[in-house]
Amino acid sequence: MTPVTLCTARLELRTPADEDAEAITLACQDPEIPRWTVVPSPYGIEDAHQFIALVAKWWANDEETTWAIRHDEKLIGMIGLHQISGNVDGGQAEIGFWITGDARGAGFMTEAAGAVIDWGFAERGLARIEWRSAAGNIPSARTARSLGFRYEGLLRQGHASPRGRADAWIAGLLKSDDRFPTSWPTLNDEGDA
Ligand SMILES: CC(C)(COP(=O)(O)OP(=O)(O)OC[C@H]1O[C@@H](n2cnc3c(N)ncnc32)[C@H](O)[C@@H]1OP(=O)(O)O)[C@@H](O)C(=O)NCCC(=O)NCCS
Repeated sequence: MTPVTLCTARLELRTPADEDAEAITLACQDPEIPRWTVVPSPYGIEDAHQFIALVAKWWANDEETTWAIRHDEKLIGMIGLHQISGNVDGGQAEIGFWITGDARGAGFMTEAAGAVIDWGFAERGLARIEWRSAAGNIPSARTARSLGFRYEGLLRQGHASPRGRADAWIAGLLKSDDRFPTSWPTLNDEGDA
């Protein structure tokens, strides 16, 4: 599939290119990114170049759709629909994302993910999008809840990364769901665990 660019009020989502390698490498020095994602650590420029090449291959093969998130032309994050499976009218995928440390808490991920979800349901024919995280990732869980994901449970040792295994939280959003935030047993109203 040809890479697609998505635009929101403040953001442009475009597939990462070789000139983004330095910005990606810098962002991935933040320990919060390897802590909660499958990004390698330590992370060097070669990792970024390899990742950019893989993203191009994933788009071409319709395996995953990944975008660099840009604000005022600056790369501030990454988001993708991974593990795409099923046919074009009834597929499912898992959403994954990170935002650079200095851009967090400004609503950027909620805005970017909203556009990706809309595209996944309307244009990619998905019926279900999953969110999974290592248990305890409150910012990510709050982001998913704000987007309308419904909490579905705990997967024992269900999170695997280069750092090992951990319990995972899972939530899902169906095309037919409204996007109104629901109550999550792992989050109180203030958003803490
Ligand atoms: C998770 C992450 C992408 C959120 O991005 P963000 O742009 O800061 O998120 P937003 O500003 O859109 O906020 C989304 C929700 O998270 C909450 N949130 C953001 N940072 C938070 C924090 N440090 N502590 C608690 N809640 C937080 C916001 O209040 C908001 O919830 P609300 O709508 O209930 O008020 C970002 O923290 C990150 O990149 N973390 C490291 C990598 C990671 O964990 N990736 C996800 C792996 S599953």
